[in-house]
Amino acid sequence: MKITDRIHYVGVNDSIKELFEGLWPLPYGVSYNSYLINDQKVAVVDTVEAGFEEDFLAEIHEVIGDKPIDYLIVNHMEPDHSSLTAYLLERYPQMKIVANTKTLPMLKGYYDTPEERVLVMAEGQTLSLGSSTLRFHMVPMVHWPETMVTYLEEEHTLFSGDAFGTFGNVDENVIDDEETFEEYRDEMIRYYSNIVGKYGAPVQAALKKLEGLRIDRICSTHGPVWEVNVDQVVALYDQLSRYEVGRGVCIVYGSMYGNTAAAADALAEELEKRGVPYAIHDLAGNNEESLGLSGALRDVFKYDTVAVGSPTYNGGIYPPAESFMKALAARGIKGRRFYAFGSYTWAAASVRLLNGLAKDMDFNVLGDGMAFAQAYTQEKCDMAALADLLASY
Ligand SMILES: Cc1cc2nc3c(=O)[nH]c(=O)nc-3n(C[C@H](O)[C@H](O)[C@H](O)COP(=O)(O)O)c2cc1C
Ligand SMILES: [Fe+2]
Ligand SMILES: [Fe+2]
Repeated sequence: MKITDRIHYVGVNDSIKELFEGLWPLPYGVSYNSYLINDQKVAVVDTVEAGFEEDFLAEIHEVIGDKPIDYLIVNHMEPDHSSLTAYLLERYPQMKIVANTKTLPMLKGYYDTPEERVLVMAEGQTLSLGSSTLRFHMVPMVHWPETMVTYLEEEHTLFSGDAFGTFGNVDENVIDDEETFEEYRDEMIRYYSNIVGKYGAPVQAALKKLEGLRIDRICSTHGPVWEVNVDQVVALYDQLSRYEVGRGVCIVYGSMYGNTAAAADALAEELEKRGVPYAIHDLAGNNEESLGLSGALRDVFKYDTVAVGSPTYNGGIYPPAESFMKALAARGIKGRRFYAFGSYTWAAASVRLLNGLAKDMDFNVLGDGMAFAQAYTQEKCDMAALADLLASY
């Protein structure tokens, strides 16, 4: 796939993997994007995940035939992009890896890469491919310490690594059009919140660093190539990394026997009646309607209110709900409005403990919460009143 006269897409779609990083569901697949810049010298930007060797090599051959690759630019060492590094080094004995000082020990540790095959670039340094100039900028902790981006000056193109990436396969035409941003928006937020979400401050630092650059095209490592939607994509990343949210309620619950689930559904119904934007996530769910923890995190990055339902379990919080709270803490999420509810049978604990975890994160806990014994009823757990409370500011 040709992106410009000199930039070619040589990435792959992965429709087989069910969980990204062994954790995050992929209902629409994921792409590992690799790019080839064909000039007097040939550079490949990042590889694809191991398992796609043949497709990858075939795509490269289609563009350059038997011409050698001169440089492999490693923007990011996470194995979804770097795991064919050794494979390429072996096939292209004169190829050099272009990376930075922080990449070196990782290359050695993962692939036993000899140091003499690595060209180490510093912040702002350039590399000429003939009529193309590549410039490297370090963007540490987006979302690994060695991450850098590569800017192709003549094309105003940013090879951004995982930044601006999204879950979801890319179709035949990798380049975006007017609709692409809206089509991928939710998957992009889910990707950001699941993978990068902890690193809001480094993402902000990276955006500051790239502020002065003219960017006509973003070639990230996952999802479409952004041309028409560059401004929207950058604005979304800016908003997400500032932890900016809109009004609305993210209902998240775990339930063994359906009692806490019934309360969660009742709350959703009451919010619906009031026209309050909301999302509801069953933490045990893992399908297109509910993406479990993954989808819940996405919507915590959208909405300012979190309502968590958990039964009491062995004197504590039901483990999936506890993991959810830990996942919020791990992402440095602060300042959300919070409310807890849940069923118990002999001694309630989950609601009190959830409130404690919420306070530890500086959440605005809107009330004591509602613990109800055994089955859910509106009398025991007034979801209409809760919906009124959550709808008021
Ligand atoms: C393994 C297990 C541990 C439980 N531990 C407690 C407990 O410590 N205190 C309590 O009041 N109820 C406890 N319960 C009862 C549940 O809280 C009760 O069944 C509740 O209604 C389940 O809500 P759910 O239908 O939303 O799963 C426990 C239930 C199970 C299965
Ligand atoms: Fe990554
Ligand atoms: Fe990645």
